[in-house]
Parts: sequence; C-alpha cells; structure tokens
Amino acid sequence: MASAQVVPLPRPEAKAVERPVLVVDLGGQYSQLIARRVRECRVFSELVPHSISPAAIRARDPWAIVLSGGPASVYAEGAPRVDPEILRLGIPTLGICYGMQLLAQELGGRVDRTGVSEFGKTELHAEAGVASALLDGLPPDQTCWMSHRDSVVSPPAGARVVASSPSTPIAAFEDERLRVYGVQFHPEVAHTPHGTDLLKNFLYGVAGAPPGWTAAAVIEEGVERIRAQVGSRRILCALSGGVDSAVAALLVHKAVGDQLTCVFVDHGLLREDEAAQVIATFRGHFQVPLIHVEAQERFLARLAGVEDPEEKRRRIGEEFIRVFEEEARRLGQVDLLVQGTLYSDVIESGGSDGIAAKIKSHHNVGGLPADMRMGLVEPLRLLFKDEVRRVGEELGLPERMVWRQPFPGPGLAIRIIGEVTRERLELLRAADAVLQEEIRRAGLYRDLWQSFAVLPAIRSVGVQGDERTYAYPIVIRAVTSEDAMTADWARLPYDLLETISSRLVNELPGVNRVALDISSKPPSTIEWE
Ligand code: XMP
Repeated sequence: MASAQVVPLPRPEAKAVERPVLVVDLGGQYSQLIARRVRECRVFSELVPHSISPAAIRARDPWAIVLSGGPASVYAEGAPRVDPEILRLGIPTLGICYGMQLLAQELGGRVDRTGVSEFGKTELHAEAGVASALLDGLPPDQTCWMSHRDSVVSPPAGARVVASSPSTPIAAFEDERLRVYGVQFHPEVAHTPHGTDLLKNFLYGVAGAPPGWTAAAVIEEGVERIRAQVGSRRILCALSGGVDSAVAALLVHKAVGDQLTCVFVDHGLLREDEAAQVIATFRGHFQVPLIHVEAQERFLARLAGVEDPEEKRRRIGEEFIRVFEEEARRLGQVDLLVQGTLYSDVIESGGSDGIAAKIKSHHNVGGLPADMRMGLVEPLRLLFKDEVRRVGEELGLPERMVWRQPFPGPGLAIRIIGEVTRERLELLRAADAVLQEEIRRAGLYRDLWQSFAVLPAIRSVGVQGDERTYAYPIVIRAVTSEDAMTADWARLPYDLLETISSRLVNELPGVNRVALDISSKPPSTIEWE
C-alpha cells in the first residue's frame, strides 16, 4: 500500500494524558506555579529547563509550550534563552513576562527599557475591534498582575497587539500564523482574576489540548505504568499515616493487588486515633495486606533520657530502619520499594533520580534503609501535592487522611521539649486532640498549613479551686504557609482560643496554663525542635 493512503488513527484517549504542555523555566519565581495552573486546567504539564533542545521538545510531542517569566533582562549578559529553532517548530507557544520579551526579541520585535516599570496590580485593556484568542470571552477591562522593567516596544513582525495597560502599550500580542502568543502580565498568579480563563483559552482554544488530566485519568495511567514496572515481582510500602504514602500504596495496590505488602511501623508518636485509622482504612476498608508493627515500647525505650532534638531524630530514624528491616527480612525476597517522591521533589532536585530519592528520604518516616538493595517505584513522581489529594479522594481515601496537615516523621517526640516519657506523650496527645477538634469545629483545619500543641516540659504555678497547682503549660502553634519554607502565625479567632484554652486546663489534669506562639518563620521554625 502506498504510504500516502495511510490515514493516521486518532490518538487513543489515554494519550491525551501523556502529551504534555511544556513549561520552559527561564528562572522566574512562578515557573512551578505555571505548571500547576496548567494542570488545574486539567492539562498535563511538565517543567523543563531552558537548555532543552528542539529535538527533545519534538520528541515529547507537546500540545503547547509556555515560556515562563525570568528575573533577567533579555539584554543582560548570560540571560536565559531558548534555542530559537524551538519557536519555529509550529508548536503553539505562550510567552509570559520575560518569556514574552524573549519571543519578541527572537522573532523580529523589539524590547527596551522604557523607563517605566510596572509592579503589582495594573488595569489591562483589550484593544477594541481586534480579535484575540487569548482574551476571547473575557471582559474588555480587567485587573492583572505585572512585574517588569523592560517592555516590548514592537511586537514580532506580523503579530497583532491585542491588549495594553496604562504604561505598557504592548501588554499582549498574538500571531496565529507563527502560533506565538505573548502576555506581559502574569496570568498564573491569583492577582490576575481572569488568568486561569486566559490559560484555558490558550490551552483549549489555541493549542487544542483536551482537559483530560483528571484524577481518574491519572489513576488509569499510573496503574498502567506501575504494572509495567512491577511485573510479577513483590513490592513493599512503608505507611506513615500521611497522605503521600497512603495514596502511593493505594495506587500500587490497585495496579498489582496483593503483590504489595504494606508495613506500618507504629512508633507511638502519632496523633490520637491516627494509627487506628491507618489500620481500619487499609486492612479493613481496602483490604491491603498490612503488617502492623506495634513498636511503641521500643521507641519509648530508645528515647529514654534523651533531650537533644537531633539525637531524638537520629534515634527514631535508626530504630525505624531497624524495625522495618526486620519485617522486610521476615517477608523473604522482596525486590521493590514504594517511595512517595512528588513532582516538586523531582523539580527541586533538578530532575535527577538519585537526588530526588535522597531529598525525599529526609521527609520520610525517619528515612528508609539506604542499603536495602531494592528497586524504587515512585507512583507520585508526576504529581503535585494537590493532585495527590485529588487522586486520594478519587480512590476513596477518607477525608481525614486526604486532607491531613503535614506531620513530621519523628512525630510528637519533637513537640515535647525535653525528655519524651509515656506521661508527657499521653498528655501532649490528649492536648493535641482537643486543639484539632476545636480547629476542625471552627472550620479552619484546611486553611491552616499546620496546627498543633507543643509541650514545653516545664511547670508553672497555678490555682484551681482553693488549691495551688504546679503543672505543665501547653503552647498552641498554628501557621499558614505555602510550602513550609516561610510561615506566618495564624490569627486564630479569640473565641476559638478561649474555647481551646478552657478545655485544655479543665479537661487535662497536669495542665494549668495555655500560651499562644505568635512567631513567624523566619526567624522561628514551625516546629519547636
Ligand atoms: P520547620 O520546623 O523546620 O519545619 O519550620 C518545616 C516543615 O518540616 C516538618 N519537619 C519535619 N518533617 N522530619 C519530617 O519528616 C523531621 O524531622 C521534621 N522536622 C520538621 C515540619 O513539620 C514542617 O512541616
């Protein structure tokens, strides 16, 4: 048959998931956010370095390319650039801020330092009577977020100016012939209220990408990928009680069933009811083969007399590995280990497999054995945290587990200042339970990055009834944050604080005082140890 007669079959639906939108990182602070926003539009995206070659781009067969913002001026020495051939591949390309300026410069337009900078909220005005694919269906006047010194003073030859701001006559241009589009403002930030609509116009309207990246599609694709990797081998997963390991385990179980064994090392340092919930969910509800190792006494014994926080961490980590290895040995030959590496870990480590694994182990339950010769399966490697939660919901994980706030591997041990004893542990766990209950009741749990009780193991004088008391204070710590790198103390309502305070001193013998931590990070840290 002559090749000319071969009609390509339409891509099967699953392929829509694998074809990405490539977000080229030109060094701007919002590159990762752009990738997340594209995914919020249900289109799979990947962040790639600006050094990527045209061949590598072609090989990925992307729906579209987005050039991110960048801190530099396009004229600065060493300013990040892309291979200009990439812009001539005929792939729909959207340049944002610096990315737009780069497009203009590479395609025959001009960028200048006009002496007018714009930072912050700016009014955007669509050019009357000029058709625009990006602004289609959006109000002619809208607020957008700008952050630039240089400006495009002439668009690429043949491109049409479609929007301006009071100080930037060329705030957006389009050229459907070359399939290049540029916006000076940042559609990815929340301060551009119609930013997501603009991205949708670009993704769906210009690039024709279908909104196929749904939790169901992620699961389907993940299951296929895991099956291919695992084959008929046995695989082990350490459950921590957190959302990442829970979702990773459920995905693997869905893919390979009882080839998976989960190990839950119960170190006794979790919050109230968490251990029971892990058992009920995995063994009871999902019927995942689960080994529940009751190691509470071992951990308490190892922590006896230890006051130094780093020493606590070290001992907990070491003991965790010891217990985990004992269980793994009991299971006989197991070749593979599940690891909950997220896409943000992969990005932050420059995409290298080895480094990603190392970074994640710090955040794991004390870290997993380095010398266990097992292959790693990383089912969450392509997912951002909010996607992990959506997948968890889709898989039927209970709401409490899906939305659990981050919790440190060493658990309550680093929230007891000084020695961890059974009495102190029980007191802190009970105090934390009261705090969590009231924060949930107030509807604030999901708004807070973390909220917890701290037990500084000192005592102070109080009076209850006619009696003088000498008991522990409890400190309330609640913070808002995006990523734990910085955090602000949460302004909890006074009424809520009052309820928590009176419940703590009334319900917990051994507590006679409640304090509120009003420090931000930096200079404080989120945890007390
Ligand atoms: P800091 O206290 O450094 O905490 O502001 C930042 C984030 O990391 C968590 N954290 C830990 N997580 N093992 C962990 O798995 C640890 O030793 C550890 N120390 C702090 C902390 O809860 C916060 O989310």
